[in-house]
Amino acid sequence: MKVLVTGGTGYIGSHTVVELQEAGFDVVIADNLVNSDQEVVNSIGMITGIVPAFEKTDLSRPGQVKELFEKHPGLEAVIHFAALKAVGESVKMPLEYYRNNIFSLVNLLVTMKEFSVDKFVFSSSCTVYGQADTLPVREDSPLQEAESPYGNTKRIAEDILRDEVAAGDLRCISLRYFNPIGAHPSSLIGELPLGVPDNLVPYITQTAIGKRDKLKVFGNDYDTADGTPIRDYIHVVDLSRAHVHALRRLAGQRQKSPWEVFNIGTGKGYTVMEVIRSFEKVSGMELPFEITGRRQGDIEKVWADTAYANSELGWKAGKGLDEMMLSAWNWELALQKRNKQ
Ligand code: NAD
Ligand code: WQD
Repeated sequence: MKVLVTGGTGYIGSHTVVELQEAGFDVVIADNLVNSDQEVVNSIGMITGIVPAFEKTDLSRPGQVKELFEKHPGLEAVIHFAALKAVGESVKMPLEYYRNNIFSLVNLLVTMKEFSVDKFVFSSSCTVYGQADTLPVREDSPLQEAESPYGNTKRIAEDILRDEVAAGDLRCISLRYFNPIGAHPSSLIGELPLGVPDNLVPYITQTAIGKRDKLKVFGNDYDTADGTPIRDYIHVVDLSRAHVHALRRLAGQRQKSPWEVFNIGTGKGYTVMEVIRSFEKVSGMELPFEITGRRQGDIEKVWADTAYANSELGWKAGKGLDEMMLSAWNWELALQKRNKQ
């Protein structure tokens, strides 16, 4: 099956392209490289032995999306990763987030219709649940008003997709990712944050390597065992494999309904301090950190109920926190080596 992977040179997209190629899918990547490097295409080739087709395409421009589909006839499915994803930046420039993320989605759907492509996998986020009253969160847990324009683009995108599925031939699986971390075991691909990272794990590894002075732990007065917030961290390779399951479900027409949502997490939550301790254990280093005030907009705790994804999608995360942290650290070390060459 020939699959278009938008955002395929990005963090999650690149790991998913590897899993897709290893599962026998024929991949075309489209990315405008606003948050990734074209070199990733060759790294994927080094891992899988197949260099995927790559198109530099800005999906927010309808003409470019049409050209992409014309150039690659025979596409059967789309996995849509491409989006801007920095929560803080989205608060400062909401219009750019709505323009980029929503226009790209709509352009893709319009073009898919024109070219009779009916299978779609969407990158959604646990951010749509906000601070849930009941944990773990299930796919039918109530959604909360978004904390940021970024989060709102995920809610709006799910609404658009649900409406389009109801109106026509589109079949869609929305995967709500929890907190992806870690890197491919080859250390040839991984997360490449631009500037100062917002997310916990790249901040930890950049601190350990000496790029940052110390980690700020945003609050230890939450209602959790050690006072720091809880998240469901998931290895990016486990998360990427969920997309292979989703595509096979779409291709095999095994959906229970043409619009489906699955939680993609491990089902287990860890506090920030547990993540730090795991990093210290696998790296053998002591991490400099200080406790500061809470970060605005942070929720206290969230983790996934994965029963539905396990039973229906036939997918389960297998990698534990230490393995996630070790792969993140090995990736940071590989980046340092590469930059010194
Ligand atoms: P990423 O920034 O590494 O990858 C996104 C890719 O999309 C980048 O390569 C970027 O260049 C590309 N892109 C952005 N706008 C584009 C456009 N208009 N046209 C073409 N390409 C464009 O991010 P990621 O962490 O790999 O996230 C992938 C998806 O998963 C995003 O939709 C994100 O919102 C979602 N998600 C990420 C997380 C996370 O913590 N990383 C959690 C939940 C959901
Ligand atoms: C994890 C924990 C912080 C950095 C974000 C997005 C969300 C989703 C995933 C895409 C929190 C703490 C962090 C630091 C810290 N992305 N922390 N010091 O906040 O769960 O979610 O990424 O959809 O939409 O909001 O992830 O990695 O930023 O934070 O103490 O320097 O680490 O307070 O408890 P988060 P994160």
